[in-house]
Amino acid sequence: MSRYYQTTPIYYVNDAPHLGTAYTTVVADALARWRRIAGDDVFFLTGTDEHGQKIDRASAAAGLSPQEMADRTASRFVRAWSELGISNDDFIRTTEPRHHSAVQAFLSAVNDNGYIEKGSYEGLYCVSCEDYFTEGEAVGGNCPIHGKPLEWMSEENYFFKLSLFEQKLIDYYEANPEFVRPLTKRNEALGFIRSGLRDISITRKAVQWGVPVPWDPGHVFYVWYDALINYATAIGYGTDQERFGQWWPAVHHLIGKDIIRFHCVWWPAMCMAAGLEPPHRIVVHGWLLVGGEKMSKTKLNQIDPVELAADFGADAVRYHLLRDVTLGSDGDFSYEGMVGRYNADLANNFGNLASRVATVVDRKCGGVGPAPRPDSKLAQAATSLASASASAWADFAPQDALELAWRLIREANAELEATEPWKMEPGAAVDGILGDALEVLRLVAILVSPAMPTACAELWRRIGMRERLSDQRAPEALEWGAYTAGAAVEKGSALFPRRSS
Ligand code: ME8
Ligand code: MG
Repeated sequence: MSRYYQTTPIYYVNDAPHLGTAYTTVVADALARWRRIAGDDVFFLTGTDEHGQKIDRASAAAGLSPQEMADRTASRFVRAWSELGISNDDFIRTTEPRHHSAVQAFLSAVNDNGYIEKGSYEGLYCVSCEDYFTEGEAVGGNCPIHGKPLEWMSEENYFFKLSLFEQKLIDYYEANPEFVRPLTKRNEALGFIRSGLRDISITRKAVQWGVPVPWDPGHVFYVWYDALINYATAIGYGTDQERFGQWWPAVHHLIGKDIIRFHCVWWPAMCMAAGLEPPHRIVVHGWLLVGGEKMSKTKLNQIDPVELAADFGADAVRYHLLRDVTLGSDGDFSYEGMVGRYNADLANNFGNLASRVATVVDRKCGGVGPAPRPDSKLAQAATSLASASASAWADFAPQDALELAWRLIREANAELEATEPWKMEPGAAVDGILGDALEVLRLVAILVSPAMPTACAELWRRIGMRERLSDQRAPEALEWGAYTAGAAVEKGSALFPRRSS
């Protein structure tokens, strides 16, 4: 059994969960769910990033201590992800003692290996990014990401000798062409490395809200340096080396394009400096835009994913995010787009197939599901579409995986329209047509379950499958013909009632 460790970025606690952070978390969840179906041993992590100046200032402005603010917001994240059906195995908070000890152990290893030195630093800083920018990167004195004025900062700090890793990183990228996906983002990261790496400041003296530097407790680690290590903490770094060794480096980071430099340059270098393998894979996605702008607290154009899930159902929100944003590109969110996708794909195509089949089985087969035919036209289409959809899931392309599953749904609907079993006399011909359609529903329930776990489990139950959906393993379970004939098929109410707006 191979191991698969999926992560999301850990989210800052100055900001409530919004549709942008929900997007990442849903994509990571769907990828993790697919890997469980594919038979991997999966560990799926998300969490919150609770240190740094940004949180310190936001909590002071709200009249709270940083810890109070972190506690409040972290619980909102936990609740939001539960409302969205996120199947994380752990939720890490960087203020937890386990994380402090892992950060100290990790950076002590880097220090012991000779990659940390004392120096001083000054430059233009954006507190929202928690990052320095050069004069060239600044846009009219403002942060190129947040558009807010940059501040001049000057400190005596400890430095990580990132410059020593330039060639090692280039070599690693060249030896591992799939390290960062998609290719455009890999090239962006590699271009950044090739343009020359400077040593980076990894501690702060002026800030107290952070993990103390073990060899110089007047300093705390810079928030990004502490945050990245969460991926190691959660699997036992520094406390349970055996467990750590089981999951590292089988890690797959999913990140937004705003944090490429940290994950694709710093983090692999930090791992090398600590004597670890770099992460196995980093998948970068684009931004979810509203009216062409990035959604964020700074811009006040947030959409609450919990409200949206209460309105449409979590599965429908998940589906829309996975289906309408090509992983790696930007996507635009609109309420009209959400309604349109819901009605076209869920109410009409998918929901309609499910209810049609159950109705005709009820009327023509006494409510008992017949067996699929081994070599029908639909059998051939289903075999190739199911395997293509499975490959797309494995290749981090949820939108393709879902589009292929919908092609199968459309084929099955077209077959029913062409043969019109509802007009036929009960008998072998009707049984064959409906057996095939039920088998398509079984396959679709498996292929779509990473996106819509609740609706697919309900469909699975209604078509009378006895084994659990979560026990299905690809590729075996995707072979044509496993529908258990003789089971009671339940009609039930519409899986996705049509919406007027
Ligand atoms: O950067 N569209 O946290 P963060 C798509 N704590 N994704 C979006 C998005 C949008 N409009 N807005 C946010 C941090 N995201 C650090 C990470 S990891 C060791 C530390 C997603 O709360 C996207 O995945 O600002 C982005 O990378 C992440 O949220 C940043 O969340
Ligand atoms: Mg951010």
